[in-house]
Amino acid sequence: MEAKVFASSQPILSLRGISKYFGGVHALEDVDFDVYPQEIVALVGDNGAGKSTLVKIIAGVHRPTKGHIFFQGQPVEIHSPHDAQALGIEIVYQELALIETRDVPANFFLGREPVKGRLGIFVDRRKMVEDTVRTLRELGIELPYLRSPVRYLSGGQRQALAIGRVMPWGGKIIIMDEPTAALGVKESRRVLDLILRLKEKGCSVIVISHNMRHVFNVADRIVVLRGGRKVGDKKKSETTPDEIVKLIVGADML
Ligand SMILES: Nc1ncnc2c1ncn2[C@@H]1O[C@H](COP(=O)(O)OP(=O)(O)OP(=O)(O)O)[C@@H](O)[C@H]1O
Ligand SMILES: [Mg+2]
Repeated sequence: MEAKVFASSQPILSLRGISKYFGGVHALEDVDFDVYPQEIVALVGDNGAGKSTLVKIIAGVHRPTKGHIFFQGQPVEIHSPHDAQALGIEIVYQELALIETRDVPANFFLGREPVKGRLGIFVDRRKMVEDTVRTLRELGIELPYLRSPVRYLSGGQRQALAIGRVMPWGGKIIIMDEPTAALGVKESRRVLDLILRLKEKGCSVIVISHNMRHVFNVADRIVVLRGGRKVGDKKKSETTPDEIVKLIVGADML
């Protein structure tokens, strides 16, 4: 029992001294970043602060220029999205990457279609539909047109689909880059509920948002980037929206 408590008080993911340079642009400078089991971490900061760059490093899209990554205490190298997925790290991008002309099950399994038959060359469409329906139900996601192209779905429904489809792959850490940016009040609420449900199911979530209300609604901890540096790392219970906004813009700007 003791050991278990000890284990869950350790970060599942730790970044240490991470810098990322794009030519002369220092997108990140010496950033430490931790994610604990079943924790929702909000990553905030102004445009260009380095938020997307940081999560892309975690998701294996970018390699850091400097620094180290530890997964469950072990040093790891994440060279590709495939490496990240093997660790249980899944990302939902700012640009959703759905195929508009294909239906919900096809988008759910994009690039990871189950196959059937001895040759393993036939896509198991039936399994795709069944798994999609089951996962959507588990997550409480309601989509009206399962078999129509996803272009007929609303922004919120697409976002729910983009989030829901990372679930069946055993993701331990789910990253969302501005999941509510394009959504109305009701649809945002649904996505925030979905984030909380993922946590209930045992996932950790890293969520990027510019919306303080959304951040304070779901986050356990809030990490602030400014000009590529980490300038704040606060438990929600120990900070206020006012303080976070000050950290985002910098005291000298006020
Ligand atoms: N592939 C790239 N090549 C060159 N520069 C880049 C690249 N990606 C990001 N940058 C630069 O790195 C800095 C951080 O960008 P990043 O996209 O991480 O910011 P962000 O915090 O996600 O901003 P936003 O809130 O606008 O999405 C910016 O100055 C950006 O122009
Ligand atoms: Mg961004």
